[in-house]
Amino acid sequence: MTSRLTFDAVSLAYPGRDRGSSSTRVLEGIDLSVSSGDFVVVIGRSGSGKTSLLNLAAGFQQPAAGAVLLDGQPISGPGAERAVVFQDDALYPWLNARDNIAFPLALKGVAKDARRKAAEELLARVGLAGSGDRRIWELSGGMRQRVGIARALAAEPRFLLLDEPLGALDALTRSKLQLFLLDIWKTSGAGALLITHSIDEALLLATRIVVLQPAPGRIGAILDSGFAGEILSGADPRKVRQSVLFRSMHDGLTALIHDNAHEELAA
Ligand SMILES: Nc1ncnc2c1ncn2[C@@H]1O[C@H](COP(=O)(O)OP(=O)(O)O)[C@@H](O)[C@H]1O
Ligand SMILES: [Mg+2]
Repeated sequence: MTSRLTFDAVSLAYPGRDRGSSSTRVLEGIDLSVSSGDFVVVIGRSGSGKTSLLNLAAGFQQPAAGAVLLDGQPISGPGAERAVVFQDDALYPWLNARDNIAFPLALKGVAKDARRKAAEELLARVGLAGSGDRRIWELSGGMRQRVGIARALAAEPRFLLLDEPLGALDALTRSKLQLFLLDIWKTSGAGALLITHSIDEALLLATRIVVLQPAPGRIGAILDSGFAGEILSGADPRKVRQSVLFRSMHDGLTALIHDNAHEELAA
């Protein structure tokens, strides 16, 4: 079944820090939609409102104006059909890898044997077969993020909401997990909304790239990207990165994100 997550003229404000001080407008006039099978990547400078946007989709926050909708219904809070993965894995240190992954199933009331079986399958799917008994502190950063993603997949969500999920990893692990994410996204059939700082990552993973401009956060540009499709069809990511189109889109995005003076001249 196709699902759609929609931002309809969404604004978000945080209250002022001191009593009497005016509130800060963080997002303004956001129109965006993510459907099953989309991989939407939101990129923008620090403070441009990326996490706030994801928090709205997760239902952690409510818009000041406009609406965030799931299949036409306003989102009123978190839900199992929208799984969230943060930069810090947020795993439960008192549980081993398997029980972390099985946790959402326990919440759903799935019986113990069935949970264990599902968790083993998910461990295999994220390349961690045989690691179920390991404690969280025995896992590398990359393995922890795999466990976090496996846990997110356990509830068979319709949307994966990922806030800089690979941001804390070393470059080599990050490249590997980018391909892993593409694979997971494709096989799950879910829609993905991923936040990143990395232009390279945005170009490799996205079917659509959304550039957020700061203060207040608003959409500066939306670009379609086809590199994820090429990679999933077997293209070598290193070759893809070296292509003329990739480089020119990289330059274009760099200008859009960092070059405000240029933007004002163009306006
Ligand atoms: N809970 C909060 N209260 C007040 N201001 C906040 C809060 N969270 C974020 N902000 C402000 O909102 C803006 C956008 O933050 P955020 O969504 O975290 O941006 P990003 O993820 O792009 O770095 C920043 O100016 C930040 O300081
Ligand atoms: Mg953020």
